[in-house]
Amino acid sequence: MTSKSLWMSIAVAPGAISLQGDERCDVAVIGSGIAGLSTAYELSQRGRSVIVIDRGPIAGGMTARTSAHLAPLCDDLMSEMQKIKGEKLSKLFYESQAAAVDRIEEIQKSEGIDCDFRRLDGYLFQGDDMPSDVIDEELDAVRAVGASVERLVGVPLTGCDSRHVLRYPRQATFHPLKYLAGVAEACAKRKVRFFANTPVEEVLEEDGAVTVKTARGKIRAGHAIVATNSSIVDRIALHSKMSPYRTYVVAFAIDRGALPDALYWDTEEPYHYVRLQPGEDGKDFVLVGGEDHKSGEADDGDKRFQSLEQWARGKMPMLKDVTHRWSGQVLDTIDYAGFIGKNPGSKYIYVATGDSGQGLTHGVMGAMLNATLVTGGESKWAELYAPDRKPLKAAKNWVMENSTALKNLAEYVAPGEISSIDKLEPGQGAIIRDGLKKIAAYSDAKGDVHRHSAACTHLGCHLHWNSFENCWDCPCHGSIFGPEGEVLNAPATSGLTPVS
Ligand SMILES: Cc1cc2nc3c(=O)[nH]c(=O)nc-3n(C[C@H](O)[C@H](O)[C@H](O)COP(=O)(O)OP(=O)(O)OC[C@H]3O[C@@H](n4cnc5c(N)ncnc54)[C@H](O)[C@@H]3O)c2cc1C
Ligand code: FES
Repeated sequence: MTSKSLWMSIAVAPGAISLQGDERCDVAVIGSGIAGLSTAYELSQRGRSVIVIDRGPIAGGMTARTSAHLAPLCDDLMSEMQKIKGEKLSKLFYESQAAAVDRIEEIQKSEGIDCDFRRLDGYLFQGDDMPSDVIDEELDAVRAVGASVERLVGVPLTGCDSRHVLRYPRQATFHPLKYLAGVAEACAKRKVRFFANTPVEEVLEEDGAVTVKTARGKIRAGHAIVATNSSIVDRIALHSKMSPYRTYVVAFAIDRGALPDALYWDTEEPYHYVRLQPGEDGKDFVLVGGEDHKSGEADDGDKRFQSLEQWARGKMPMLKDVTHRWSGQVLDTIDYAGFIGKNPGSKYIYVATGDSGQGLTHGVMGAMLNATLVTGGESKWAELYAPDRKPLKAAKNWVMENSTALKNLAEYVAPGEISSIDKLEPGQGAIIRDGLKKIAAYSDAKGDVHRHSAACTHLGCHLHWNSFENCWDCPCHGSIFGPEGEVLNAPATSGLTPVS
């Protein structure tokens, strides 16, 4: 993906080399986002020898594209979660996510990580033309799980003086990559080894242990934790219970103090989210995100950024220039909680996936949970996040999300987007029909055309071109491929098949 986020100027474990032959350890952690690095931290604290391995640079995945709200209440609304999970499990969800925010606060303090961490208020406000009863329903649901909340009228955004609002105290935010750079340093002090630019091809259970296979060697470990955001060890069990959504962020410059430092998000569907990040010389940044859609189902990034900017300037006329624009992907699960714990059908392989737009808190909480389970402990959160759970009350969401795959497969019989490769402009990608086959064709800056099968190498879904990020998106389970067919995002582990 070509866009660059506000965070990406910070390198995490920049000295990490690629794997150079075979290695051994107690636990192999695959994936070095917030979920993987937090897991390495928790396990190394418990005295385990840990290797972290990543397909790309350390912490170069979706964590580098976040907007960094640390908000423990369900971002799809506690009232919605309670309809599916009931009050007891929803309360546990809130407590576990709040424990993750506490853990980040504790780690940045004890390890001396300078990452702009701060506690602040969060405001959920009635969206444009939205009814206020959502706020009342949410107030009841939030009180039921025991979280602090105050009902107000008005937030300090233009035209929102009479909006109905819930104020949540003690939310938090931070610079995610400054935080992970510090976590990686703390891990390195405890002898955690990092291998970057080494794609994992397979994770196998053999002879009472795990073998992590790569083209550069293998790692033998007692356990493996798969923290690749979208799981590479599952074909269907987990993937059929979640769906990928693309979300967009615009960063603006703003004079320090022009907007109270808080988290703001509205009740629209999809919702807008707003937060501040300290800059330099009296200038800060405001991040405004939203405009989510199911991955691959729209290729209109510029229009979405325009509409985000229009919304933001309407609410905050003091905003200055746009400094960054980026997008990323989140995995929404059918019952709003992630899948963390033993991989269904495995003995020694654990997963952390299904971030549901709260991937930062899920990542840190999942690290605590998986570290407890791997070291033989028990956790009261295990049932809530059990990867093999079958949430019957979420059946409606299951049917809705899985209809994407059926709709997608029907695309194989549709005509191509353009009639011939000659019509491709440099820098453009498009699907072309070639007899019975569909080809993902991309013309590079020099006009050389790269042709690949349009079938995703995970389970064969039909890919869609993303012209803002210059990549191929898979609408089914979130794989992303570069214009030359290389894997950019799991669950796929192999590149697109070239077509001559
Ligand atoms: C725009 C945006 C805004 C967001 N806002 C928030 C927010 O405000 N609050 C919040 O809590 N969450 C938010 N999220 C979600 C959150 O940022 C992510 O869910 C979270 O960072 C994901 O962390 P992760 O460790 O699971 O995945 P990643 O950070 O994606 O890490 C996974 C790693 O696995 C590696 N990997 C994949 N396949 C392989 C392989 N085969 N071999 C080796 N390595 C592999 C990848 O290279 C990657 O580095 C947002 C996300 C986006 C995109
Ligand atoms: S990600 Fe599963 S088919 Fe593409």
